[in-house]
Amino acid sequence: MRIAAIADIHMRETDKGKWTEPFKEVSHQADVLLIGGDLTDTGDEAEAKALCDELKVCSIPVVAVLGNHDHEKGRHKLIRQILQSDRVHILDGETFIINGVGIAGVKGFGGGFDNYMLAMFGEDAMKAFVQEGVNEALHLDRALARLDKEHENIKKIALMHYAPIVNTVVGEAEALFPFLGCSRLAEPLSRRHVIAAFHGHAHLGALQGEAAGGVKVFNVAQHVLQQAGYKTPFFIFEA
Ligand SMILES: [Fe+2]
Ligand SMILES: [Fe+2]
Repeated sequence: MRIAAIADIHMRETDKGKWTEPFKEVSHQADVLLIGGDLTDTGDEAEAKALCDELKVCSIPVVAVLGNHDHEKGRHKLIRQILQSDRVHILDGETFIINGVGIAGVKGFGGGFDNYMLAMFGEDAMKAFVQEGVNEALHLDRALARLDKEHENIKKIALMHYAPIVNTVVGEAEALFPFLGCSRLAEPLSRRHVIAAFHGHAHLGALQGEAAGGVKVFNVAQHVLQQAGYKTPFFIFEA
């Protein structure tokens, strides 16, 4: 089972045609394509339509989550509707199963990492910020638990936009870390024995890290992959 992964496509209307060749090529290289959010650049439905057109050449199933950019104009539900099809699956706490591999997808959220993770403390606004991360981690945990309950010995993969560990955001300014991801997202990965997790969002981050329990974590933001020397900007993982 070959899993191709990328994140942070940031599709603009002027990008029409840019992704046709890469999507054609990845269809020959992998059995499924994961896209870890920031599908559009400004959360505009015209950008989603442009991406939808490009994805038509992709002959393998596509599994994606939305990112913060897809939420920018409050049209994320519309963007999801536009992109969703028989072959394109947008996950927000749901799962998708292919060839014995179960993929759980959430957007995730910020909150910081390890000893510097924000606590549920202080003003309501701060508590709301922390709560959003807690909720996203819960959605991920429930999706993974469902895969385990419904399918014995299934291999589990997690797809998200925000980072679950600090190692794959290293390279970004440290001041930004609390907004790039949250350690709370790593807890379900370890607890549910996920084999690999893919995320994006940290464009200047690092490609590879590991969560507790030996869970492999990959930051597949296209900028990170390009920086790492990938000519076709897709990371390939064999499960
Ligand atoms: Fe991005
Ligand atoms: Fe992002």
